[in-house]
Amino acid sequence: MAEEQTVDIAGIVDRYEGDPGMLIPMMQDVQAACGYLPQTELKELSNRLAVPLARIYSVATFYASFRLMPKGDHTIQLCMGTVCFLKGADKISQAIQEEFQLVPGGTSPDRRFTFSPVNCVGACALAPVMVVDGHYHGNLDVDGAIRLLGEIVQRDEAAREAQRKAAEKAAKKKKRGSKKS
Ligand code: FES
Repeated sequence: MAEEQTVDIAGIVDRYEGDPGMLIPMMQDVQAACGYLPQTELKELSNRLAVPLARIYSVATFYASFRLMPKGDHTIQLCMGTVCFLKGADKISQAIQEEFQLVPGGTSPDRRFTFSPVNCVGACALAPVMVVDGHYHGNLDVDGAIRLLGEIVQRDEAAREAQRKAAEKAAKKKKRGSKKS
């Protein structure tokens, strides 16, 4: 699961000698440290630089590389280009949003998925296409898309369970070891 980090805003501002003209590199540093641009950090940046928060948000929303939400463990890009759209991408979009609590451009509440409807991904022959974690999945329909994402959820859960059991086993072993000594 993506972790939030605290970031030293004062340190970032100092690095650029408090120059409001260096707002974008400062925001890039915040995003590099946190994985996105948290509201609290942006407020602090605004206070320290005496730059209105609204201006910082307008920069954040203008550049596609900035994220105002934490990134999920998996990225989903659903092609909404003309060919994919005509072949049912909108129905897939609707269905996966409902099934996995996704919003376009956002991250699911469990931070598992970040969902982005995108323009043509250059694989029209495979339309409709969804790119998950960089892997292309073509000729999808609603059921196929839900199945694909459902399998990811299952794999994650299985991995988490295996980790939990391994940690439990290690803890028991340690306890047994400490009793013997
Ligand atoms: S329109 Fe979807 S891949 Fe081209």
